Amino acid sequence: MIRNGKSSDIKACVKLHKKNLAEGIFSQLDPNLLEKVYAYAIADKSSFLLLDFADGKINGAALGSEDISTFLKSIRKRYFFPLLANIAWILFRHPSYLTTLVQPYAKHATPELLFLYADAKGRGTGSNLVHASNNEFKKRDIQQYRVELSSQNKGAFKFYQKQRFQTLKKADRIIMIKRLL
Ligand SMILES: CC(C)(COP(=O)(O)OP(=O)(O)OC[C@H]1O[C@@H](n2cnc3c(N)ncnc32)[C@H](O)[C@@H]1OP(=O)(O)O)[C@@H](O)C(=O)NCCC(=O)NCCS
Repeated sequence: MIRNGKSSDIKACVKLHKKNLAEGIFSQLDPNLLEKVYAYAIADKSSFLLLDFADGKINGAALGSEDISTFLKSIRKRYFFPLLANIAWILFRHPSYLTTLVQPYAKHATPELLFLYADAKGRGTGSNLVHASNNEFKKRDIQQYRVELSSQNKGAFKFYQKQRFQTLKKADRIIMIKRLL
């Protein structure tokens, strides 16, 4: 069953996120700070958190935003000082994340599926969540959205290809597009 995430799900989501989604700077954040990102997504009308839920347990989650730039700017503004301290520490350990941080923001709204993970792999959780995310974006009159992943994440790349995402850019980071028409 897919349902919207609630505040009471946040701690479990952060645990699953840390366990299953190794890539990306968000995964390096302190759990407390990552909880705030989830709380923001739940409260923000232009974002959504969808959970695949069965037998009282979360199997996986998808977090999307109608505009990734606004989402990131709002998080940065709201949690500037704790983020600064945490990101300085992350950069000290992983200087390669600097390129992610200095990426220019797009001038137009860019819908993005920011996080997607399944706890038990290969049981349809990922596809269910992509299907529900497609519907969620469509409900918001969005005709296409993107995902960004590391070029080393070959499994997710194959998964998104199966879900009929098209590859827009393939370098260090891969950008894929899902057209919803
Ligand atoms: C990517 C991910 C969400 C897929 O979820 P999942 O629940 O395992 O995927 P599903 O069971 O719905 O698989 C759907 C299809 O994709 C294929 N697929 C899934 N993972 C795959 C992999 N690693 N390699 C090749 N194909 C894969 C499945 O075989 C299945 O094909 P089928 O429809 O022909 O049977 C999951 O592997 C995951 O959590 N990965 C870690 C987090 C991550 O990298 N997220 C994406 C970056 S944001």
